[in-house]
Parts: sequence; structure tokens; C-alpha cells
Amino acid sequence: VWQQAERMAHEIFSLYGFREIRTPLLEPTELFTSGLGTDTDVVTKEMYTFLDRKGRSLTLRPENTAPVVRAYLEHSRHRLGSLDRLYYLGPMFRYERPQKGRYRQFHQIGVEVFGGSEPEVDAETMQMVLVYLQRLGIGNCTLWVNSVGDENCRPRYREELLRVLADRVADLCAECRQRYQRNPLRILDCKDSACRKLIGEIPTLVEYLCDDCGAHFEGLKKNLTSLGVPFQVNPRIVRGLDYYTRTTFEIVAEGLGAQDALMGGGRYDRLVERFGGPAVPGFGFAIGLDRLVLLLSELPGETIKPPPGLYLAATGKGGAEWTLRASQELRRRNLRVETDFRTRSLKAQMRNADRSACTHILIRLEDEKAEVRLRRLRDGNQITLPENGWDEMVREVSLGNRD
Ligand code: HAM
Repeated sequence: VWQQAERMAHEIFSLYGFREIRTPLLEPTELFTSGLGTDTDVVTKEMYTFLDRKGRSLTLRPENTAPVVRAYLEHSRHRLGSLDRLYYLGPMFRYERPQKGRYRQFHQIGVEVFGGSEPEVDAETMQMVLVYLQRLGIGNCTLWVNSVGDENCRPRYREELLRVLADRVADLCAECRQRYQRNPLRILDCKDSACRKLIGEIPTLVEYLCDDCGAHFEGLKKNLTSLGVPFQVNPRIVRGLDYYTRTTFEIVAEGLGAQDALMGGGRYDRLVERFGGPAVPGFGFAIGLDRLVLLLSELPGETIKPPPGLYLAATGKGGAEWTLRASQELRRRNLRVETDFRTRSLKAQMRNADRSACTHILIRLEDEKAEVRLRRLRDGNQITLPENGWDEMVREVSLGNRD
């Protein structure tokens, strides 16, 4: 399941012009404190930070947007002049309380697009995620989109938020009372029911967008509609990292319980500049691969078909030698073969075949040497072939798996 999810990402993302980037697991701590914002949960509570032998502060990457931006600048990729579409797969580290779907070492599949501020970039990238999930067989999910504005309109909304909540602070949960002081926008995505009720009664950020941000958000919705991508506007999607401007989005999936955010992302038009680079806009997302694997493993039926494979079973004297040679012939023809060379009872070997990842078993009995039996494990369908009919065996196993 893990491999299937990863393979599909390579396949679909390259279809959209993305190329893979691999960044180190360790980065200077400063990259994250300045990139993600010092008031975010990730930076204040969740980083694995330590000193190296020379006393430099290093951090195990809690996410990969900041490292990719660092690499982008370090290798002057902004000089390329066109859209730069990059993707990554790999482990991230956050000191969180572990539970189902939430781990301290977890895995993300993510992308970052540099150099395009148009809402078409946002829409195309969102559509790609949905195509990816659909291809894996995930249908029960919802795309939530929002806009968090920019440095022109967000401060105005922040003021408004502080104003309307001023005499209701006591009604907020303990955490949100702190957020009111430090990072009031995060109150919007609180899961506490009392906070939610309060938030439902106050104006949303979208109503406060400046003309440019408003037009961008309208453009995004229009593009999604014309691509036939179903979405819902959700004013609570403000995201937990500070670098976002304008578009933010998340996909939640049924069946994940409390940790239902399958992926999240958005636009970050000021981040490259914040790291001392030119004014290059960015857009990206990251999927929680562990959560995706949980979902895929719980899907009913065989959405992920095993690839064709043949288990070789032989009995009696000379059986192991024959198995060795037959494996070589078949693998040369690119057929996946498993065997263990133990010429025990046929029953024991059949049991092994059932436990293997094979779709078929080839049986060679000591007293029927000239012929072998090829049996499909799923339904016991069986044919007889000459013992050196390699090409036919390969054809039968490959084709026989399709219907
Ligand atoms: P994020 O929302 O912090 O965004 O993480 C993205 C996804 O990673 C989440 O939706 C979730 O599925 C998964 N995830 C996060 N923490 C854990 C955990 N402790 N255990 C399991 N899964 C987890 C980012 O990381 C941004 N860098 C995404 C992005 C890319 N924005 C723009 N470009």
C-alpha cells in the first residue's frame, strides 16, 4: 500500500510537470523559526531541536516547505524564469502527542510551485491532488478552500476580530484566550464547541479581503468550477503555519477519526522574500502519507490488485534444481517469482503460496516431470503446460490476472 501510494505520486505529479527534490532531514533551526513563525505550535512546542558538536542549533525538519525554499534560493532556481514545480516524499518530525493518525515521525508527500501568482496555479494543483486521490480509490473526501488575504487586508480583519471578541474573551477556551493575545486568527480553527459557536456568529475573513485578494479568490473558485472540481468554502481554514497568503485549503477524509486532515496547503507569496530572495510567489501542499495509508488499508475490497506473480512448487529428487533453473528462466522474462527450494509435501507448499504475494502457483510433481500445472490461486483455475514452456507460463500469469 505504501509503495502504491508513492508510485502513484511519482506518476501523477510528473504528468503535471513536477520534478522530485530531496532535501536533508536536518536544517539550521533558524530556517524554521523564521519561516514558520515564532508563534506557531510547530515552532513553540513541536520541534526536535539540538546542538551539534560545534554548538550549532539544528532541527529535524517538521515540514518541508521552508527547506525547499532554502534549496530553491541556494541553487538560484528563480533564474530559470518559468514555473518551477517540485515535489517530495519523506519523513517529517514533530513532538506531538501520538495517537491514531498522528505520529512523531510521520511522512509527507508534498509539492511546491514557484513563480506563479495566478489562481490557475492554485486550481490546477488542487485538481491534481484530487486526481491522485481518486486514482488510489479515495472518494469520500471534501476539499475546503479559503482565503486568508495578504498584508493589506489581513491586519484589518485581525483588528476587527479583536474588537468583536473583546467582550467575549471569557467565553473562549483556555488555549484561545492565549491565542487572542498572540495569534487571534488561529481562534478560527479551534475545535472546541463553545469557540466554534462564537466564531459562527462573527464576520469571516473573506468578507474583509482587499480588491486584489478578493479577485484572486473569485478567480480560484471560477477555475475550480470550470475544471469540475467540487469544493466548499470554509472560513475556518486558516492553517497553523504563518507563511500563508491568500489561498489556503485542506482535504478531510471520512474514516480518519479525530485526525481527519488528509492534507493541507496554500499560497505563500512572501516566503521567498522573507528568506532574502526575490519576490517569487509560491503555492504548495502536503499530504499526510501515514493517514493516506490508513485510509487505503481500510478500503473495502481489492482496490489495490497484487501484480502478477508466480510461486514455484516442486516435489521429490531434482525438484530444487529444477526450481532454481525455472526461476531464472521466468525472471529473465520479467515475471515475478517466489520459491523457497524446499521440496516438502505439496500441501505445505500450497500453503506457502497462499501466504505469498503471488497470484499463481506452478506445480511440478516428481512423477509427472514432463508436464507442470499452472494454477490461479484466486479460484483454483488450472491448466497443464510442458515443463519448459516458459513463454506460455509468463503469458498465462500476466493475462490470467486481469479478469
Ligand atoms: P501541515 O498541515 O502542517 O502542512 O501538514 C500537512 C499534512 O501532514 C496534514 O494535513 C497531515 O495529514 C499530515 N501531518 C501533519 N502532522 C502529522 C503528524 N504528527 N502525524 C501524521 N501526519 C501528520 C505542512 O506541513 C505544509 N508544509 C504544507 C504546505 C506545503 N503548504 C504549502 N506547501
